[in-house]
Amino acid sequence: MSNKTALVTGASEGIGAEFVKILASLGYDLILVARSEDKLNQLADRTRNEFEVNSSVIVADLSKENAAQDLFQTIEANGSQVDFLVNNAGLLQNGFFTKLSLEKQEAIISVNIMALTSLTHLFANQMALQGSGHILNVASLAGWMAIPNQNVYAASKAYAVSFSQALSNEMVAANSGVQVTALCPGYTATKMMDNPEQGATLRIPSSMMMSAKDVAEIGIKACFAGKDIVVPGLANKFTTIIIRLFSKSLVTRIFGSFYRKNMD
Ligand SMILES: NC(=O)c1ccc[n+]([C@@H]2O[C@H](COP(=O)([O-])OP(=O)(O)OC[C@H]3O[C@@H](n4cnc5c(N)ncnc54)[C@H](OP(=O)(O)O)[C@@H]3O)[C@@H](O)[C@H]2O)c1
Repeated sequence: MSNKTALVTGASEGIGAEFVKILASLGYDLILVARSEDKLNQLADRTRNEFEVNSSVIVADLSKENAAQDLFQTIEANGSQVDFLVNNAGLLQNGFFTKLSLEKQEAIISVNIMALTSLTHLFANQMALQGSGHILNVASLAGWMAIPNQNVYAASKAYAVSFSQALSNEMVAANSGVQVTALCPGYTATKMMDNPEQGATLRIPSSMMMSAKDVAEIGIKACFAGKDIVVPGLANKFTTIIIRLFSKSLVTRIFGSFYRKNMD
């Protein structure tokens, strides 16, 4: 019997690379998607050698128009059926909205919202036809609040949370066999916490960050457990409780002040 297949976007590093290793360890064949071909090939080689699964690489820039549709068609043309989709690719910009590049803010919307929605639609349909499948959408704790100086990013993640949670309910109610889960990590130790291409740098102590491996493990476990949403880590869970105790305006003021003080 052939293995099931998992597709991970943003697989070249960070949390995405951890999803790849976990799914390979569970016996999934892998389709790795991102822009950095060398990094994807290295990881694909590693999963083939370490876990003896089939790993293929598709280089794609998900900020481009029709990137999701092209990706779906390439996978269909290869005769592959995706059983586990991880919409992990994500972009961030830190700083004062009007001073940041409009092009980069639009790319956040293209990747974090448009590509995630299109890939979910295309693969959820295919999974529903076969009566089973898992979709893990990587949102963020940032999606639980408005965050000044990260406003487009936080809004894109609010979309991912709301969209995924609602779709999860629809899929269950329709007895589709398709599980959709929103993963909401807090600060996680990846390049995203220190990337010069993301506008300003946010100074967050490493003690406040979870490891990418722990975050990915919690996400996959929650998706298999049939959860619609999961917030990894006690500190992050505690944050979701605290922010619900205060008005949105007050939470926005607190985060605005924190981010302005901690951005270079
Ligand atoms: N790190 C955190 O603190 C944190 C917290 C909450 C949520 N998240 C979310 O977790 C997810 C993974 O982030 P990470 O922390 O692992 O960040 P990361 O280390 O910066 O990795 C981002 C991944 O997305 C890919 N990517 C970026 N733009 C892309 C594009 N246009 N087309 C295709 N792939 C693209 C990157 O690959 P290439 O550059 O090779 O294309 C990379 O593999 C994101 O959705 C992020 O928003 C992260």
